[in-house]
Amino acid sequence: MKINANYLNLNESYLFSTIAKKVNAYTQAHPEKKVLRMGIGDVTLPLAPAVVSAMQKAASEMGEKETFRGYGPEQGYPFLKEAIRGYYASRGISLEEDEIFVSDGAKSDVGNILDIFDTDNTVLVPDPVYPVYVDTNVMAGRRIVFADAAAENGFLPMPDENTDADIIYICSPNNPTGAAYSAAQLAEWVAYARKKGAVILYDAAYEAFVSEKGLARSIFEVEGAKECAIEFCSLSKTAGFTGTRCGYTVVPRALVRGGASLNKLWLRRQTTKFNGVSYIVQRGAEAVFSEEGMAQVQKNLEVYRRNAAVLSECLDSLGIPYTGGKNSPYIWMKCPGFSDSWKFFDYLLEMANVVGTPGGGFGKNGEGYFRLTAFASEEATKEAAERLKLLFSK
Ligand code: MLT
Repeated sequence: MKINANYLNLNESYLFSTIAKKVNAYTQAHPEKKVLRMGIGDVTLPLAPAVVSAMQKAASEMGEKETFRGYGPEQGYPFLKEAIRGYYASRGISLEEDEIFVSDGAKSDVGNILDIFDTDNTVLVPDPVYPVYVDTNVMAGRRIVFADAAAENGFLPMPDENTDADIIYICSPNNPTGAAYSAAQLAEWVAYARKKGAVILYDAAYEAFVSEKGLARSIFEVEGAKECAIEFCSLSKTAGFTGTRCGYTVVPRALVRGGASLNKLWLRRQTTKFNGVSYIVQRGAEAVFSEEGMAQVQKNLEVYRRNAAVLSECLDSLGIPYTGGKNSPYIWMKCPGFSDSWKFFDYLLEMANVVGTPGGGFGKNGEGYFRLTAFASEEATKEAAERLKLLFSK
């Protein structure tokens, strides 16, 4: 018997598990301290009332013989796929219902999609980046090359003709840097992918935070993207579904590689390995896209946007450089006085009892940077900003 030895090439634990362990050790040693958590991007506001009542109604249906449901379609109920189709249509993007696959979140799908690609492919990943893209490819033993993101290119790497890649990851607005591509910039990536015969895996989990005109919310805003891209999205950050779990993946019919329809391969994979998201959760997700749900969800997003503004103003007042915070719930700041982001993590935890995510956890280019999230409560965010001001004002 042989294990998948590629797992031995991974860091011992997943980035956010490592942080949780460190924070738990600190709180156990210092139970009297009030620790403010702005590390993992986990939402704190409750589900929208329209979502809750849709789920309550669905739960009641499950308790009645006439309306009880067993296995649903693995790729999602038509009512939810229609709602998602409408969401895209409202932004001028037309999708077919069978191009949409409902899932339990973008993280799972971003990892699972690799099932349909050979391990022999070369993967192009920006650095810094959401660690799931790298870890899932390390697990499969794929060759990974990096596209450098840095202050010099606004943390938005552009394609390099001299780099060959088969699978390209793009996350916009970006986790962790908060930088977001315009449709014109994405058009260059689409042109590159088409030329190389590559597939773009586009993570749009933070699209709902885009408020600036001219920035893209979907790769399918770009002409020709349906022939080279798969898009992942999630209700985690848009509608507070981190604990409820629901996302969706769009695999266009027009996407063909090696003579095969990737839509068909993904359908085959999902029907075999996945039994769908629960009916109750899908009814809740459907309600997100209703007029009422959308308005309620926007209210929560406004709170997170205000939090991001509070943190940005704090860093402005301290003269600490940062990006993000505008079209993104993440603020990517320079570690003041530290080149080692993990040492800065320890310092901030110890001195201000504030938790963030060390940039080094997102790749080598993340060293010297630190990520704060805007997902804490308004009170905690304001308090964290005050503590940062006290610690770093000269
Ligand atoms: C993050 O903090 O980067 C995210 O919460 C992780 C995730 O969405 O899986």
